Amino acid sequence: MRARYHPLLRLLHWLTAVLIAGLFIAGGWIVYFDPGDGPLKDTLYHLHESTGMLVWLLVLMRIAVRLATGAPRLPPDTPGIVRFLATANHVALYAVLLAQPLIGLTDANAWGAPLHWYGLFEVPWFIGKTGEPVAQALSSLHWLAAAVLLALLAMHIAGAAYHALVRRDGVLRHMA
Ligand code: HEM
Ligand code: HEM
Repeated sequence: MRARYHPLLRLLHWLTAVLIAGLFIAGGWIVYFDPGDGPLKDTLYHLHESTGMLVWLLVLMRIAVRLATGAPRLPPDTPGIVRFLATANHVALYAVLLAQPLIGLTDANAWGAPLHWYGLFEVPWFIGKTGEPVAQALSSLHWLAAAVLLALLAMHIAGAAYHALVRRDGVLRHMA
């Protein structure tokens, strides 16, 4: 029985958390604090899109390591509803983290923008440039998935606080 997640999973958990914070900052900056057309906007797009695809790769790797190495058990006295909510939250987080970068890539393609991954190579196009209504719908879907991700993260952090402050059951150490 392991007391904590595999070290690689702990590293990937916190690395993904930092990268996702960066994605929200860059994405939000582009959309809500108009940086104006120019090099800054191009850099923000480039970093947001390349890092979003990096997160996708890290999440794939994380799921593989997780399936291979398992997880620590919750304390035996954890109520069934808490176990259920924790599992549902984790599965939903993985699902959104896998879907969102692909939605973003399709969204960028639909607007006619290819992605040169950190300037190294061009990521294959999912779909070519589309008409504006389709591109707009994909942008809305990307926004919606970001909102769902934020809500899931709020629940995740509330769950962490519940374990740390109310139950004081050491669950945070699983990921420390
Ligand atoms: C973008 C930010 C984050 C993402 C995407 C994320 C995602 C996840 C996922 C998917 C799991 C499930 C691991 C598994 O069983 O495979 C997990 C576990 C965990 N996370 Fe996060 N997390 C984030 C931020 C945080 C923060 C800020 C905290 C602490 C305040 C935290 C604390 C934990 C803990 C303690 C666990 C282990 C829970 C357990 O043992 O059942 N996470 N996280
Ligand atoms: C986990 C990964 C990602 C997260 C959490 C994320 C989050 C966000 C957020 C919060 C915004 C600003 C709000 C809005 O959507 O209007 C945004 C905008 C945007 N993102 Fe992402 N993003 C991710 C991955 C990607 C990827 C991989 C691409 C493209 C390859 C991409 C392309 C875009 C584009 C083009 C915008 C500008 C508005 C639009 O057309 O949707 N994103 N993203």
